[in-house]
Amino acid sequence: MNKRLKKFLAIATITTLCFASLIGCNNSNKEDTKKDDEKAMDKDVIKIGFSMDTLKEERWQKDRDILLAEAKEKGIEIIIQAANGDDNKQIAQAENMISQGVDVLMVAPHNAEVAAAIVENAHAENIPVLSYDRLIKNSDVDLYVSFDNEKVGNLQGEYITKLVPEGNYVYIGGAPTDNNAHLFKKGAMDILKPFIDDGKIKLVYDQMSKDWQPSEAQKHMENALTANKNKVNAVICANDGTAGGAISALSEQQLVGIVPVTGQDAELAACQRIVEGKQTMTVYKPIPKLAKTALDLAIKLAMGETIDTNNTVNNNKIDVPSYLLEPIVVDKDNMMDTIIKDNYHPFEEVYKNVDEKDRPENM
Ligand code: BGC
Repeated sequence: MNKRLKKFLAIATITTLCFASLIGCNNSNKEDTKKDDEKAMDKDVIKIGFSMDTLKEERWQKDRDILLAEAKEKGIEIIIQAANGDDNKQIAQAENMISQGVDVLMVAPHNAEVAAAIVENAHAENIPVLSYDRLIKNSDVDLYVSFDNEKVGNLQGEYITKLVPEGNYVYIGGAPTDNNAHLFKKGAMDILKPFIDDGKIKLVYDQMSKDWQPSEAQKHMENALTANKNKVNAVICANDGTAGGAISALSEQQLVGIVPVTGQDAELAACQRIVEGKQTMTVYKPIPKLAKTALDLAIKLAMGETIDTNNTVNNNKIDVPSYLLEPIVVDKDNMMDTIIKDNYHPFEEVYKNVDEKDRPENM
């Protein structure tokens, strides 16, 4: 029997027992009964575990903070731990949440393949697993909640090919262990392909960055510039962290603001670079929407309720029922209508290095 169902039956039994012995339920023990009911309700608080790869990028701190606040508001318990990119640590932390009796385990895996062990361990205890933002591959994971990650790559590719329809392109991707990094790349390459086939765009450098490290991305950009004698016309970076690394390398060659660079996440530092003309665009994924949707669906999983999904994504083993949200392009021109309007970052912070006379009017 499903664990939550058992809990409900336990409460129902407590209530029925009281009714059955109604005559015995006199005024003197009414208070005791009330306390028992409260205790039973207390035990019934939904407990969710969230095993995270990392808190390094600013967005993951937002994910954590929003989940904590939402859980508090909904009166549910949430346990969150981050593994700092260590697979064994992530498995151990998840194991610990399983042994604490979580009703649902949410996982943002460091390694898409290795994390399949977490799904097995949780399923052995009848605990459903929700793949958060990043897909767990080769597993029977119950639900996947994320953004349309191929679309993130499409948006980067579309934006930059419109700006630079010909020339030497550099692709700096994310962690090979993260399924998203492959989806972002596929999305961007699908857009570049016809340009490459026509001989208009030449992909002169194409590398992934271990663990999404900005320092790796910086090295890639340095290598790409050296190998091509600085003749690079556009750079697709998979996220804002790697974009930051690439921009440091471009700055050594006085090419910042000259060579367009893409990103993703709408990190504060990236938004500042965008309004300062140092980074061309970013892909904004409203994290509050992701966190709230995931938590709502996790609660439904815990209650054994039907889940409304809007997609399925194959993870090499099954078609995982998925809920995918829409990513949004952000550049200098729509910064006010997106990031500022949504209160994702405060106006004063985003424009802090922009001369007052050059700032747009705050809303
Ligand atoms: C996420 C990105 C993030 C990257 C590095 C990806 O899986 O979707 O938002 O920048 O991981 O943490």
